[in-house]
Amino acid sequence: MSDSPPPVSGGSKRRLLIISATGIVLIATAAIASFVALEPTPEPVVTALPTPSATPTPTPTPTPTPTFNKAQFSNDDVASLWVVANKLRPLNPVDYEPNLVFVDVPYAYEPYLTPDAAAGAVEMFAAFTAETGLGMRSQSTYRSYWAQERVYGGWVSSLGQEQADLESARPGHSEHQTGLSIDVSASPANCSLEQCFAATPQAQWLAENGWKHGFTLRYPEGKTDITGYAYEPWHMRYVGKELAAELHSTGIQTLEEFFGLPAAPTYG
Ligand code: DAL
Ligand code: ZN
Repeated sequence: MSDSPPPVSGGSKRRLLIISATGIVLIATAAIASFVALEPTPEPVVTALPTPSATPTPTPTPTPTPTFNKAQFSNDDVASLWVVANKLRPLNPVDYEPNLVFVDVPYAYEPYLTPDAAAGAVEMFAAFTAETGLGMRSQSTYRSYWAQERVYGGWVSSLGQEQADLESARPGHSEHQTGLSIDVSASPANCSLEQCFAATPQAQWLAENGWKHGFTLRYPEGKTDITGYAYEPWHMRYVGKELAAELHSTGIQTLEEFFGLPAAPTYG
């Protein structure tokens, strides 16, 4: 036995070479791999998030302002809800007689109005009593041409024509003949058909609330140059709830001003 290494055979040399080569390849691969691993990780390309397209602000649909149709009913037709009678606008025909119904409210003289006006009056009287616990009564409603002749004649006799014309319509010119007007007084009676009625709870309630029931105060204070009549805090004219509410909300106090009709201070 010898201590020297055994001679390397040709086959063994080849194996050695192959092993060495394989080792070199592995080392090189590892080196490349680690080099690659050391490469700085490229910054990720930030893909810009899509900007959300701005939510379109919805354009508010304009609420159409309901325009009041002033031509809905005639001011000339004597049977119209919106007829305007004054010193320049006589009723046509002058002896017109409307359809009338009894008005079921307390009264001084039997009250008759057109069916719509009567319904409005009954509703208004009931609302007044329900809200205040007080009473009202009808003083005067429909007056025929002939009844108006007597009333007007009485005023002329006591005051003379000039003053009478501020208080009472000549026959054929009175709203009372249309069946759309009611003179209201307090019950128990207090200043009936007198200026002092204006200070009563009845008059104040009528001025504030009559419109809710389709009525307007036809002869307001300070409008004599337009209506032709002195202040009548008792005279309520039925025009229907739509027009009454429009008069109330616009603050226009007379039918002449609202409809653009000529002022009628005198008979011309
Ligand atoms: N007192 C009103 C104006 C009329 O007589 O009709
Ligand atoms: Zn009256």
